[in-house]
Amino acid sequence: MKNTFAPYSISAYGSTMTATPCLKSPAKNIILVGFMGCGKSTIGRELSQLLCYPLIDTDQLITEQEGCSIPSLFETHGEAHFRQLESNVLRELSAESETRHIISTGGGLPVSSENAELLRKIGYVVWLQSSVDTILERTAKTSNRPLLQCEDPRSKIQELLEIRAPIYEACSHLSISTEGLSVNEVSQGILDSARYFFSNINTNSKN
Ligand code: S3P
Repeated sequence: MKNTFAPYSISAYGSTMTATPCLKSPAKNIILVGFMGCGKSTIGRELSQLLCYPLIDTDQLITEQEGCSIPSLFETHGEAHFRQLESNVLRELSAESETRHIISTGGGLPVSSENAELLRKIGYVVWLQSSVDTILERTAKTSNRPLLQCEDPRSKIQELLEIRAPIYEACSHLSISTEGLSVNEVSQGILDSARYFFSNINTNSKN
């Protein structure tokens, strides 16, 4: 089956979203990726309510399975161990063939190429983009993100974003700049695009 679809843009609420259709059928999950503080949990909850799909949060799954907070996991076992746990959780999700779920991922989860590949197999991947200022403002409110507990969180955010932006870009079917949009506007944009994506898969699978 050939992918005859080119990337397309959707303009809504004065903002432009870029989407890349793909005809390999992923399960009908919507997956949110993006940097810490970009709104994955908030948008995830909204999508979950709008669609009546259960919300899965990979960070929450890890803390429940380990019985331990993320800062404690980083402190006791280190970041590499946490990344291993993230990959395990994702593999479990894909093995369970979950469908019709909203999956909110930790900001570093797609950095592993194996994880990035799995994400695209298990759903429609949406990258939520936010500016450094917005990320800094939101993440400064809590101390539960070990990577940003440093002298200069702005520089750390910039440094990590530079590395991760191309990774988020490559693994996502849709990217949305959330600046200036309400939670509902972002969520409606995602729903419209996801419907288009999945309906094209269905149409073309029948050919
Ligand atoms: C991380 C993001 C966090 C959490 C951990 C590491 C990252 O999740 O997984 O602190 O490397 O970007 P959120 O993106 O939900 O804050």
